[in-house]
Amino acid sequence: MNFLNEIAHRFPDAISLAAGRPFEGFFDPADVPRYFDIYRRYLTDRLDGDDAAVRRTLLQYGRTKGIIHELIAEHLRVDEGITAAPDALVVTVGCQEALWLTLRALRRDERDVLLAVTPSYVGVHGAAMMVDMPVLPVREAADGIDLDDLVAVVRRARAAGRNPRACYVIPDFANPSGVRLDRAKRERLLGIAAAEDLLLLEDNPYGLFGDPAGPPTLKALDRHGQVVYLGSFAKTGLPGARVGYVLADQEVTGAPAGQPLLADQLAKLKSMLTVNTSPIAQAVIGGKLLAHGHSLRAANARETETYRGNLAQVLAGLEKRFTDLPSVSWNVPEGGFFLLLTVPFTAGDDLLAHCAAVHRVLWTPIHHFYADATPRNVLRLSFSHLLPAEIEDGLDRLAEFIRAQSAGN
Ligand SMILES: Cc1ncc(COP(=O)(O)O)c(C=O)c1O
Repeated sequence: MNFLNEIAHRFPDAISLAAGRPFEGFFDPADVPRYFDIYRRYLTDRLDGDDAAVRRTLLQYGRTKGIIHELIAEHLRVDEGITAAPDALVVTVGCQEALWLTLRALRRDERDVLLAVTPSYVGVHGAAMMVDMPVLPVREAADGIDLDDLVAVVRRARAAGRNPRACYVIPDFANPSGVRLDRAKRERLLGIAAAEDLLLLEDNPYGLFGDPAGPPTLKALDRHGQVVYLGSFAKTGLPGARVGYVLADQEVTGAPAGQPLLADQLAKLKSMLTVNTSPIAQAVIGGKLLAHGHSLRAANARETETYRGNLAQVLAGLEKRFTDLPSVSWNVPEGGFFLLLTVPFTAGDDLLAHCAAVHRVLWTPIHHFYADATPRNVLRLSFSHLLPAEIEDGLDRLAEFIRAQSAGN
């Protein structure tokens, strides 16, 4: 992703349909001390007015598993219908640290492999590479993970002497495809995970922007402790706080006394990596949770409306610009920050650089989401951070680029 940042830096006037960021217009620096203070007052109540203990909790080195675990457990209950024991949560430096800790804990020896629905979020490839765990791709169909392929990949890997330790999946508005699994598919996926004795790593940064009547998370449906749930407050809280978490309630056989859970193992690793997540940053997120009755769905009502509007505008804009070009097609996600656009040419980094220089619009080449990094004819488009006029302008530029490229210019 350094390459994409470098291109964005070189062409500052290019419109970015590449950055998967929340809309900055809703950020307000004044929220930071306000939320911090809401949490401080809550803590003062909880600690019976003991100012020294409050100071220590907020400003000193702190509990490795974090200080807002109880608030997160309540948020999971309110927003996701997930029952989480606070002790099974580890508050991390973004979801990325949660992912790294989880993979590091799962990685025992060179036979261990991770399965990942592919194309998949770049961060999982990076974390797997850092813990020396090869990633085996599982195909993604139009309705999400291809379950036959999942079973085939698990069995092939085992027959070859490898140990599939888990399968990474983004069931809600995946990055990069925007695809969401329906409830029946979620149930089938859980059934297969139980039958094949496979952990599922459920990563869910975008689900809360969906319809509340949508399908439950895998973790909410998990009956056999098959799901490790990875959470991020980057899109629903504040990305600059860098706070995420992992819910790892699995009991570990042979665990040390008093540390029975996978979460305890993750905390041990965390104590050697980042020691603890900044309590100041946690307090800001904690205050936001408290200010909205623990509901980030409620806290993000206007964001949800904006992102839905942007998606609808992009879908209508593509329809308008490409109906006469049947070689250009796209999927139609129900929500989230992304969709995939298929074009009649291979779209790699060189072409992106050309497009940025000549047409002043950026997109993400899909090969960044594959372990093999072979350029393909698909672009990821994102639209969460743009204003309506920027979306129109960006799509005009994109259409100009695609027409020129399709005509061989
Ligand atoms: C699927 C997915 N997981 C995790 C993350 C990163 O989360 P965080 O910023 O909390 O590390 C992202 C960020 O774009 C993402 O798309």
